[in-house]
Amino acid sequence: MGKGWSKSDWRAKPRVQMPDYPDQGALNAVEAQLSRMPPLVFAGEARTLKSELAKAARGEAFLLQGGDCAESFGEFSADNIRDTFKVMLQMAVVLTWGAKVPVIKVGRMAGQFAKPRSAPTETIDGTELPSYRGDIINGFEFTSEARLPDPNRMLQAYTQAAASLNLLRAFSTGGFADIHRVQSWIAGFTDADDAEKYRQVADQISEAMDFMRAAGVTSETAHELASVDFYTSHEALLLEYEEALCRIDSTSGLPIAGTGHMLWIGDRTRQPDGAHVEFARGVQNPIGLKCGPTTTEDDLKVLMEKLNPENEAGRLTLIARFGAGNVGDHLPRLIRTVEAEGANVVWSCDPMHGNTIKSASGFKTRPFESVLREVKEFFAIHKAEGTIPGGVHFEMTGKDVTECTGGVRAVTDGDLSSRYHTACDPRLNASQSLELAFLVAEELQDRRKFAKAASQ
Ligand code: PEP
Ligand code: CO
Repeated sequence: MGKGWSKSDWRAKPRVQMPDYPDQGALNAVEAQLSRMPPLVFAGEARTLKSELAKAARGEAFLLQGGDCAESFGEFSADNIRDTFKVMLQMAVVLTWGAKVPVIKVGRMAGQFAKPRSAPTETIDGTELPSYRGDIINGFEFTSEARLPDPNRMLQAYTQAAASLNLLRAFSTGGFADIHRVQSWIAGFTDADDAEKYRQVADQISEAMDFMRAAGVTSETAHELASVDFYTSHEALLLEYEEALCRIDSTSGLPIAGTGHMLWIGDRTRQPDGAHVEFARGVQNPIGLKCGPTTTEDDLKVLMEKLNPENEAGRLTLIARFGAGNVGDHLPRLIRTVEAEGANVVWSCDPMHGNTIKSASGFKTRPFESVLREVKEFFAIHKAEGTIPGGVHFEMTGKDVTECTGGVRAVTDGDLSSRYHTACDPRLNASQSLELAFLVAEELQDRRKFAKAASQ
């Protein structure tokens, strides 16, 4: 990694899903400006995350990655960041209870601004315009001005990401994330009648905390209880932005992406000889790779070799997103490829992107039942193959939106229109996210028993 690679090499490779900026001069000026800015994250943090992910690959930790499908400039607020952070903390406590190992918290935050699209243009009432590609590229509004790619948007994205990270760092260590507060939020959720079925678990968590307190382990005596490590991630789609913020880590002398701790490559941009793989292969950050139904065993082999030639544990996370009912057709063949290569990977499950449907009311949605079913299939297949389910990846928000249907506080088809705010794909709301964490925790309890039995 790093050797024989330069941060602009991707420019010579075929690129997909990237905008053609009409004003080259404006683009160059923005790139020059960004290249003088400080990086948003530091190499040491990305290295720590990598070592945490190496534990997840071995089943000694579990990855929780979640946040917006697309962050937007319009929805940017301290409250939104706080609420998503807050629900992720609650999920992490519930998952820790189930897995009995540390949960690695990685937000789809502070950089998740660029979106791959299924079509380059969108037609409404006979008018055809370029598709919206995320606020870092163009505007959501359906006008030709808004849809024109504007490089200055990169500067606004950088500023928003910096402000978001600043707040996340403050929340992580400033007392907000104290486990006693988090536990009381969880109890608040399960005290309501509709979430009663999760109360037993919440009570057990609460008893464990009481026991620790009685034994003298409190936030004052154990710093770990008062703060958390929280990491950021996004799809590394807009390579001009990524290149401009790529830096050399002074400790290792190797390149590091400065835009987020972990970057991933999307299902539509993972061509082994394409620009996105070329960029990602050269930076030291942990890398995620989305694997969908069209991922072939041969492509996966080449991609693992390119992205992780040293077979470093924690470097590569394979994010499976096949859709409920399809996991059995694809995950076993890819797991066997990984095993045959002896590759070190974290297997994570994205039960969102294979389960998007159009509801009867016309909204893009995801049924909670399908999301849960894909998670269950993912765990069952790992159990059958004797491999480790190492994490989950969700599109979610801390807000009470109505974008995905189902859950104990059931969102119906008819409800979708009431609070549908996403700038892209439908997200789980706060209640659905926490409920899913309870259900994944059940799977993790099973994983633990299975691992125990296997080691005896
Ligand atoms: C995403 O994670 O928002 C996304 C577009 O996913 P995928 O590349 O798996 O379709
Ligand atoms: Co999405």
